[in-house]
Amino acid sequence: MLQTGLARVERASPVQVSSRTDKLMARIALVIVASGVLYGCYAMGGPVYWKVYATLIHPYQDHPPPAAVTAAPVSGGVNGTGGAAGAVVKSSPSPSASSPSPSPSPSPVKKEFNPDDYPLTRERVQPLLQDGLIMITWANHHYLDFAKSWVYNLRKSGVTGYMVGAMDDDMLREMVALDFHTWRMNTGITKKDLGWGSQNFHLMGRFKIKLIRDVLSLDVSVVVSDIDTAWVKNPIPFFHRYPEADILTSTDQLAPTVSDDSLERFPHAGSAFNIGIMLFRPNSKAFVDEWVKALDDPKMWDQTAFNDLARKGHTVSEAPKNLWKGYEGKLTVGVLPCALFASGHTFFVQRKYSELGLEPYVAHATFQYSGTPGKRHRFREAMLFDDPPEYYDDAKGFVTIDMDIPQALLDAAGRPLQGPMTADKLGDHFALVHHQLLRLRGAIAVALVTGRVLVLPPIWCQLDKYWAPLYDGNIPGSHWRKPFICPADHVLDLEGGWHPHRPEFGKHLAYREYSFFNNPRMSKAVNESRVVLTVCQQGDKDCAQGDAPAPIKDGVVRLAPRLRDDQLYRALVEGSEVAGRKVLVVRGAAEVFKDFVSPDEQSRFENRLKHYTSVFCCLQENPGWIWYDFFADRPHADRFNRKFTDKWLPKHGDTDRNVAGYKEPQPLAAAAGAAATATTRRALLAEEEEVADVVVMSRDQHVGAGGLRVTELQGQLGLGRRLQGEEREQLQEVRFLQALELDAMFSGP
Ligand SMILES: *[C@@H]1O[C@H](CO)[C@@H](O)[C@H](O)[C@H]1NC(C)=O
Ligand SMILES: *[C@@H]1O[C@H](CO)[C@@H](O)[C@H](O)[C@H]1NC(C)=O
Repeated sequence: MLQTGLARVERASPVQVSSRTDKLMARIALVIVASGVLYGCYAMGGPVYWKVYATLIHPYQDHPPPAAVTAAPVSGGVNGTGGAAGAVVKSSPSPSASSPSPSPSPSPVKKEFNPDDYPLTRERVQPLLQDGLIMITWANHHYLDFAKSWVYNLRKSGVTGYMVGAMDDDMLREMVALDFHTWRMNTGITKKDLGWGSQNFHLMGRFKIKLIRDVLSLDVSVVVSDIDTAWVKNPIPFFHRYPEADILTSTDQLAPTVSDDSLERFPHAGSAFNIGIMLFRPNSKAFVDEWVKALDDPKMWDQTAFNDLARKGHTVSEAPKNLWKGYEGKLTVGVLPCALFASGHTFFVQRKYSELGLEPYVAHATFQYSGTPGKRHRFREAMLFDDPPEYYDDAKGFVTIDMDIPQALLDAAGRPLQGPMTADKLGDHFALVHHQLLRLRGAIAVALVTGRVLVLPPIWCQLDKYWAPLYDGNIPGSHWRKPFICPADHVLDLEGGWHPHRPEFGKHLAYREYSFFNNPRMSKAVNESRVVLTVCQQGDKDCAQGDAPAPIKDGVVRLAPRLRDDQLYRALVEGSEVAGRKVLVVRGAAEVFKDFVSPDEQSRFENRLKHYTSVFCCLQENPGWIWYDFFADRPHADRFNRKFTDKWLPKHGDTDRNVAGYKEPQPLAAAAGAAATATTRRALLAEEEEVADVVVMSRDQHVGAGGLRVTELQGQLGLGRRLQGEEREQLQEVRFLQALELDAMFSGP
């Protein structure tokens, strides 16, 4: 560069230089001048540019005006035009070291990521307040996708006043890169899955309370919600209906005590307050201080401490607002409506909001099984998870089932059950679920053979699932219409069987939730690239036998029943036009697959399916859980090597003891036409989806039982195994279960 530059100057020079010394001197002078200019640019260019930038292009604000912003909803919030510490660092996704360039670059807002730039301070929180409120959650890097979804849902519902606490610096970096309002927590808690219920989980609980105290000390009102919540409606107007409330808390109540969107009546709604969703106003500071103090006792669970403190000397709620005095009369408290600030049961299982014809505010993934994968899957089923576009367009394509369920099975499972959970009430539910599992088995085989991603069907159930005996077929105190689509974690072991890569099963099977094709993120191009695989009856004509690629006729391929894996492969993959279609819909899935040619592969397949199911729970009699079974239609041994020779009969827990008093349902009369039944099921599905105007049924039913207290559960727990151990950790886990927040069980060996 310098050389050519010099040469040019030389050529252009108007001065006649003759002597060699003169030439040399001229060159030296030129070099000196050129270096001087370059150095000048280098030394001055940056500062001059920044001066211009900071005064003209992007004026720098020392501190965002404080109180004034409080009322104005986030003027500088979303894209962070705010002050020094609050300024959002536009870090590129790949934080490459920016080379010090002498000339100002045209994209200047680059700042090294510095974790110390994100403290939790009044200056940083004030500008974010939305109508005086800040909504917060926190998470470590392991829950990054939950955090993204949490923010995604909030923003979608119009909330801009939120912050996500980053529990480790990897998380902080991600939050900053995503332009999320965040702060650094410095918790020292592990980056891994906290395992809802583990020691680390407890530790996190304590941080949470201290965090609430810290935020309150900034004199703001704060809505705290756990990372496993999904906000579907802006709650701020709701909270402003109760300006006199110091604390509003969500509840594990399963039966609403109100039929509209008022606060629950108290103490009628007597279940434990759930501290996963709460509002605190500054007046509750003293209460929170005492709460923090109560947690000095390492055995005390944060939620129990909260319940004890808040209920101390409480009054009865008063209409019309249903507020009451708690904490020795010192605080005004309200219980958020359980249908709208919903637990994992009122939202995903009962769908109580829909029954009441109301719009919910938030769903909390509690009362669920299969751990963190189970939570994620529930949000996905409800289309509340923020998955990237590639989730909806896998290169390998998808397999799904057009499930045929005889109306008789659905009708039988729609009959209401009454009383304690005895063996005679199991038949219809298991017949219904096993009918679906048998078909799912065929679809899983097709997915494995074709290498496609499996889209799960909705699974219809009659019985609920719990970690203590059911009553009326439900968690005691709850009622809703049956049969219902149960969350996949009721029946499938998403955490132990489906989620992890387990090479002993063969290749990993990716799967999707049943609402996948209804998700607005599903593209038309993928959704409409369909082909239906119809399984022929024995003796039908024009059925591909699996000796060559099967032709598509009018969007349908017809296959002979019970093909083996190599035949399916030849028909559907190798050189087949089916391979070009994104979605393969299997109709008649029960008969689509016989087995794998290789005995090894067949045994891996069976082993896989044995670990894909979870348990029903709980019977009155101990042990109260029963494993669902993919092979209930034929003689087999299950994962515990228990033999089912003649037919499937339920066995207690992991023992070989048959459940006494089990009544087999009547065998179905020759199954009604598949088409007709599919239609009725679709109608049912449609009904399920629309927000029903059927109003309340549950209020006067068993409210007493709904308040089933923790102590009553003791000794009744249906799930012995992990829960009756003597170690303290396990006892602690039992305490969790009693207070209904947990989930981590039911993943089998
Ligand atoms: C940034 O904020 C301005 C005004 O507050 C708004 O018009 C603009 O759309 C925002 N940009 C982004 C990327 O959010
Ligand atoms: C995808 O196709 C199915 C079946 O044709 C349809 O019911 C569904 O609404 C479609 N989904 C979207 C997002 O358009």
